[in-house]
Parts: sequence; C-alpha cells; structure tokens
Amino acid sequence: MLIYNIGRLWGHDPAGALRYRRGADVNAVEYMEHAWLEFDAQTGLITGTGTRKAMPAPEEGDLDARGGWVFPSFCDSHTHVIYAGSREGEFRDKIDGLSYEEIAQRGGGILNSADRLHEATEDELLAGAMERVEAMMHAGTGAIEIKSGYGLTTADELKMLRVAARIRESVEAEVKITFLGAHAVGRAYAGRQGEYVDLVIGEMLPAVAAEGLAEYVDVFCDRGFFSAEETARILEAAARYGLRGKIHGDELARSGGTEAAVGAGALSVDHLENAGEAQIALLAGSETCATMLPGASFFSGLPYGPARRAMDEGCIVALASDYNPGSSPSGDMRMVMSLGCIKMKLTPERALNATTINGAYAMGVSDICGALGPGRAANFFITRELPDLAYLPYAYTEPLIRECRVRGRKV
Ligand code: NIG
Ligand code: FE
Repeated sequence: MLIYNIGRLWGHDPAGALRYRRGADVNAVEYMEHAWLEFDAQTGLITGTGTRKAMPAPEEGDLDARGGWVFPSFCDSHTHVIYAGSREGEFRDKIDGLSYEEIAQRGGGILNSADRLHEATEDELLAGAMERVEAMMHAGTGAIEIKSGYGLTTADELKMLRVAARIRESVEAEVKITFLGAHAVGRAYAGRQGEYVDLVIGEMLPAVAAEGLAEYVDVFCDRGFFSAEETARILEAAARYGLRGKIHGDELARSGGTEAAVGAGALSVDHLENAGEAQIALLAGSETCATMLPGASFFSGLPYGPARRAMDEGCIVALASDYNPGSSPSGDMRMVMSLGCIKMKLTPERALNATTINGAYAMGVSDICGALGPGRAANFFITRELPDLAYLPYAYTEPLIRECRVRGRKV
C-alpha cells in the first residue's frame, strides 16, 4: 500500500541505522518533503520511501495524504495501563492538600490499586486495559511498555503479566512487558520489607522467568519505597534470568536509584524529578536512557525532571506518559510532548525525538519503531499540513491527527 502526497515525512531514516539521538543530534529531526511511503500490508513493514520524482503509480486503495504530514508513532516506554478501578477519591485528597506520600502512608495509592486488582479477573483487567491501549493508539502511539506492580503477591503479579501478554497478542502495537513486583510492599508483608524483597527475588522472579512473562524488571527505588541496596539486589537477581532493569528513581527524593540502575547496566532510569548534576553526569556517560514523565509532574504537582539539562549534557533522554491511576491518568503522548516543550523547555525537535526514537530505545524497540524507513514497522500518524513542527506541541488540544496506522492498519 502506498501513502502519497505527503507534505512532510518526519523521522525519516532511510538507512535504518538510527537507534537513539543524543548530544547535538537530538536538536534535529530528519524529514523529507513531497514524499511517499510504501508498506507491505501483510507484514506491516515499510518497503520504501521517496520523493515525488520517483513515486510508484498510485493504485486503487492507496491513500492520498493531501499534503498532510506523516510522523512516526509515539513510543510510550513507561506505563502502568493494567489496573482495576480508578482513584479519583485520591484526586480529591490531593486537592485538599495531601501529598502522594501521605496518601500512600494512609494505605491509599498503590496498595489501594492492589486491593482492587486482587478482586478483578484476568478478563476484566484485559477489557479495561484494552480500552486504554486502544485510546492510546488512536492518539498516535504505536509502541507501549506495560508494567506489573499492582499485584504485590506472586499470584497477582503473574495475573497482571498474563494480561499484559494477552494485550501483546491482540494489538498491532509493539508491546514490551516489565515485572514490577517491587512497586510497594504487599499488605501481607507490612513492616517486613526485607522479607518482601526476599519474596520478589526468591519466588516472584523465578516464576516470572519460568513462564517467560517479562523482558524487563523495575523497582520503585525511592524514599518510603525501596532502597538503592534493595534495588541493586533485585537487579542482580534479575540479570541471572536475563531481565534488564528499567528503574523508577529519584522521583520523590534523590534515592540512589540512578546509581543502582547505571551500575547494573539498566536500559533506563525513569522519573528523575529530583535528579541532580551527579546523576545527569552518570547517565551522560552511560547507555542508560534518562526517561522523564512530565505528565506525572503535571498531575501530581511534582517538579519537572531536568530533561533540557540532561540533553545538553549528552544523556539519551526519552519522555513517556507513566499512564497509571494514581499519578498520571493519561496516555496522551501529544500532551507529553507539549509538557516537554512548555515545562521542560525542550524545543519541538527535542521533544519529538524524546517521544519517538528515544522512547523506542528506552523499551528496546528502536530497530523497528521510532522512525520511518524501509524495514521498520508502518507505525505512523497523519496530521493536516502544519505551518511548522512547533505547531504540533503548540496547538496542544487541537485535533490535528487525521489518521493513525499501526503495522499499516488503520486504528
Ligand atoms: O510511576 N512512582 C511509582 N509508581 C507510579 C505511580 C503508581 C500509583 O500511584 O499507582 C508512578 O508514578
Ligand atoms: Fe511509573
């Protein structure tokens, strides 16, 4: 199938070699004017791109983009989209002045979601999560990382991961799955955190690995949650099963999470609202992606992560939604991109790189997603013709997207 009359094809990577952008490279996004893109409808892979001079003749069923702009789909490398119920009660508590940690200490927060998840069946969880995943795909997302972490018992963590596997089977979007047993101490282990960590390492991890249910492991390494030492232990144990780290770190306080993650060769360390110069320097000298989540800062009233500084210093920086019922109930990556520009002072080019190719890197799919060229997935969205790239994050609620395709299929 051919898409022709493309005004601008963004994220063009004809050689297929792009894996991430850092340093000076992050300041630009490649595009091609007056372009076309062809893909194989069977495999959903792009077979060719070019300009109008060398365009194949359009056939019946091909798509006239009418001068619209084509963008690589967003790659959302950090989500918690599987959950039961919602937490608008805590939304009221926050309006009344309670902090995220205070809500957690009162038994709300993650434990509240764990109670509800325990009651829900796999089918119920799947139905709820699929609604969210489909909405994300309609908003331009083509790759999604999904975490467990609302189970907090071996059985319920496995239940969540099986739901994630069913999502992966049923959507065209690229899905990667992360085991987050150490998201909070399960209720049955209240006051016995060390024993809970032993359970994560001794029982949950082997069970997850035996069923091949996850690619990555995550730990909520933060004040009031898990320590840097516990994080390092879990990362070391996970490495024995071939699971690489994607760590929650430096969100509520400087937690040692970045040091633990980089030390273990983690793929990413996420949040970083409270990261300082030392953490940025460590990340800049590593291949660990600094993933920042401006939607969580916006919704939870936290400081924004130092994305601009991290890019200036040469870190690989991705932006993701953190879609979850407590701190970021939205998976809208256009909003994430806008927050990146408005609140983190990223240029539109930097914000686009952070939500596409660098997001793909942060979830291990940058060979197939995050840019457009032969061999990559036909994951893209088409907007109307825009006056400038900046218009996309600028007009942050305007319905600019005409059509989204994932593996070539219209969503
Ligand atoms: O990424 N920070 C830890 N975990 C989630 C929030 C989970 C929740 O509140 O349910 C986050 O913000
Ligand atoms: Fe998170």
